[in-house]
Amino acid sequence: MTGNKFKLGVLVSGRGSNLQAIIDAIERGEVTAEIALVVSDKKNAPALERCRKHGVPGVFLDPKSYPDKRRFEQALAGLFKERSVELVCLAGFMRILGDEFIHSFPERILNIHPSLLPAFPGLDAQQQALDYGVKTAGCTVHFVGREVDAGPIISQAAVPVWDNDDVESLSRRILKEEHRIYPAAIQALIEKRLTVSGRKVTQTNNTESETL
Ligand code: GRF
Repeated sequence: MTGNKFKLGVLVSGRGSNLQAIIDAIERGEVTAEIALVVSDKKNAPALERCRKHGVPGVFLDPKSYPDKRRFEQALAGLFKERSVELVCLAGFMRILGDEFIHSFPERILNIHPSLLPAFPGLDAQQQALDYGVKTAGCTVHFVGREVDAGPIISQAAVPVWDNDDVESLSRRILKEEHRIYPAAIQALIEKRLTVSGRKVTQTNNTESETL
């Protein structure tokens, strides 16, 4: 890996299929970055195995070895800063980040959520969508702000909900879209094609845009 590439930090807790989508997009040259560090708050997260397979640095940072959430997040921010991380991507990270961490990476933390926000924030978004009876579900890439699943929206993708869907079938359909729109949003940010104005994010398709 070269030293002058755009540096991503990725936070995971589990399966890591979105991490895999980012790794694959980098390997295909569609995301022009390197993953400087993946941090998992779960020791046995399959996401860490994906790191090993692809030669991506991945570590387990144990929240229990810190006196409180703030110290844990200070350590997390420290690890990313040491590696000059420019963008933090949450990819199935099952913790709510505090203000101090968020302020350490202003407008430089992204999340992917498996619903069309602002509908169905929080846990079990796909089940929430099924229970509500919506006919269209989807996923959202957004900046992370102080409120959970509520930062400015970068991109969304919709999928149909079929009468015979269960949480597995709907999640699978949504996940396919997640894997498409997350790397694309990351690349748009890297290319400075995103402009944030209040809640609104505008995206241009060329490199002559205003910078973020
Ligand atoms: C995805 O559905 C993502 O939208 C949500 O958590 C899940 C993580 O899946 N935030 P994976 O670990 O990326 O496979």
